Amino acid sequence: MSTRTRALRGFPDIGPDDTPAWLALEDASRAVLERYGYAQVRMPVLESTDLFARSVGEVTDIVEKEMFSFVDRDKNAMSLRPEGTASAVRLGIDGGLLHNAQRRLWYVGPMFRHERPQAGRYRQFHQVGVECFGIASALADIEVIQISAQLLAEAGVADAVTLELNTLGSAASRAVYRETLRDWLREHAEQLDEDSRNRIERNPLRVLDSKVPATQELLQDAPSLAASLDEESVTHYAQLRAGLDALGIAYVENPRLVRGLDYYNHVVFEWTTDQLGSQGTVLAGGRYDGLVDQLGGGAVPACGFAMGMERVLLLQRALNKVPEAGGIDVYVCHEGETARSRALQFASRIRDAGFTVVMDGADGRLKGQIKRAAASGAGARLVCKDERQDWTGLNGGLPEALVKLMTEICPAQAQANETKN
Ligand code: HAM
Repeated sequence: MSTRTRALRGFPDIGPDDTPAWLALEDASRAVLERYGYAQVRMPVLESTDLFARSVGEVTDIVEKEMFSFVDRDKNAMSLRPEGTASAVRLGIDGGLLHNAQRRLWYVGPMFRHERPQAGRYRQFHQVGVECFGIASALADIEVIQISAQLLAEAGVADAVTLELNTLGSAASRAVYRETLRDWLREHAEQLDEDSRNRIERNPLRVLDSKVPATQELLQDAPSLAASLDEESVTHYAQLRAGLDALGIAYVENPRLVRGLDYYNHVVFEWTTDQLGSQGTVLAGGRYDGLVDQLGGGAVPACGFAMGMERVLLLQRALNKVPEAGGIDVYVCHEGETARSRALQFASRIRDAGFTVVMDGADGRLKGQIKRAAASGAGARLVCKDERQDWTGLNGGLPEALVKLMTEICPAQAQANETKN
């Protein structure tokens, strides 16, 4: 007996029962983004490994431990993209889109991280990403956060999520803080968990993000980032909050929010939920003013976010907010060769009128076909046999136009009904 080859761990299939919710989320996201003037871009899933090392950061979990990287036949080091921002910036630079321009770009697609798979965390997952280039003022941060709020509202999960906000300050004030924090962490190294201790020299800010309770408690007394902020950072952050207040977007300030990617400065934010266990961040982003320059595109301020589609869909399910799938309008049954030809023609005619039609694939008797029609959930059934055809409504509330069309298609039945009456 031959053995089955199974899907890779952490690479879930998206089956036919799931795709309606995926499509609805993609369509709703696209509609929102178009209303804000964002243009869709499509980047390759494979990029030069160097791109992510230079953007996400050498000393991050993503680059150190989580990339699917390999060397190809031409000895080029490449990686499956772990996120979309670096690729979007590269695309913008390569296409000459970012120079002296305000650019609003978005993308949707799979990302790849070699993480330990669990509910809400996969090795292939999907993001809707939004990147706004060329606007230094807090207006851009306000815009992307407003979009993020709207995407989650359209997905029906707004009531279950909280916006958490922080500022990392300008590159200059962040550098000052990094040193202050590093000194403090060195003094308290013995009380830290091992992971955090390893991060002191390489990436001290990430220690703030530790999930270890004892470390979190110790960090209560760590010097705060707020104290190191320069005037520019304070003003930018205040403008952002004023904008969110004006729009009625509620937020919670979380001084411990630092994000796991290196390119951020100023505003960082996450939408979190308590309904998904430890994978509670459904959408995250922030400002990354230095990244375009770092990747060779000159000084271009930028900000954006990515929404984790699997997590939003899980949240929809937890909240019973999964959108209804569009069903079948008419299921066509047929018996005999001439009836089959007519059935084919009717099916086309009904589809041309904009309705969904499934034609039974069997050549045999009607009994099995009628059973399948009932199980299909179709709104109506059309049965073609001998020289006539009849239709039956299976589920109430059929559109008027469909009733009219079916009545036209089945004239003998209409007459029979009229005679009966
Ligand atoms: P990120 O925080 O790494 O940011 O990912 C954004 C979102 O993607 C997360 O909040 C989560 O919902 C989802 N996500 C991440 N990893 C996984 C996983 N293994 N399984 C399922 N979902 C996951 C970024 O990727 C940045 N590029 C966001 C950004 C865009 N910042 C500025 N522009």
